[in-house]
Amino acid sequence: MSIFNIFKKKQNVEEMVNETENQIDPNVTEFDSNYLSDSPELVGYPSAEIQNLIYDIALDGIQPGESIVDYGCGRADIALLLGPELDYTGIDFNPVMQNVSIINPARFINDDWFNSDVTAEWALNILSLTIPYTEEQIANPFEYSIKTIDHMMEHCTIGSVIVCIDSDVEEYVEGSIAISATELVRHYGNKYRMLLDKSFNTNMFKLVIFK
Ligand SMILES: C[S@@+](CC[C@H](N)C(=O)[O-])C[C@H]1O[C@@H](n2cnc3c(N)ncnc32)[C@H](O)[C@@H]1O
Repeated sequence: MSIFNIFKKKQNVEEMVNETENQIDPNVTEFDSNYLSDSPELVGYPSAEIQNLIYDIALDGIQPGESIVDYGCGRADIALLLGPELDYTGIDFNPVMQNVSIINPARFINDDWFNSDVTAEWALNILSLTIPYTEEQIANPFEYSIKTIDHMMEHCTIGSVIVCIDSDVEEYVEGSIAISATELVRHYGNKYRMLLDKSFNTNMFKLVIFK
């Protein structure tokens, strides 16, 4: 399952069909040995530039040295952008991600994020609510997001940062789950102070929820 289509608009059905044909080249047999360790595609990004752009947006506002627990960290590539004072823990239930991650294995929790009790100053969730992984999530994506964000808020001391696909905009996003930024703001508005940024992409948002 891919979230590549988050990053581009689909124009029409013909374009989608042609694109699918173009993506599959039956003559290519060469295996890219760096795919697991390096490729942005493995963690859902069409290019390293877009991956770094999303990480920069997510980290904007977090001070160097502040501790982070990263929900659905993938390979924990974002840790490479943190300075030497890095205080980072990644959580991902996919064991392949831990195997190919370069961060200290002691800082990588290979489990469902609901089983983590690590508390940090910040809890991050970068596009990890947007791909259908579990039956519970598929059955009710919004409830699943709330349950996840509640867990994040219980395990952070400054706040949570959520980067997600926005269901408030009508755009074709193949194979992904979108969450309404408006509904999240409505849900948490009475309890927490928040910052919502929808300026960096047509169909994504960054929501910061402060403790
Ligand atoms: C699209 S990838 C994003 C990875 C990372 N946040 C990044 O931006 O590079 C989403 C990751 O979330 C993980 N994930 C999804 N639901 C999870 C859960 N409930 N517990 C732990 N990991 C989860 C998946 O295994 C996957 O590696």
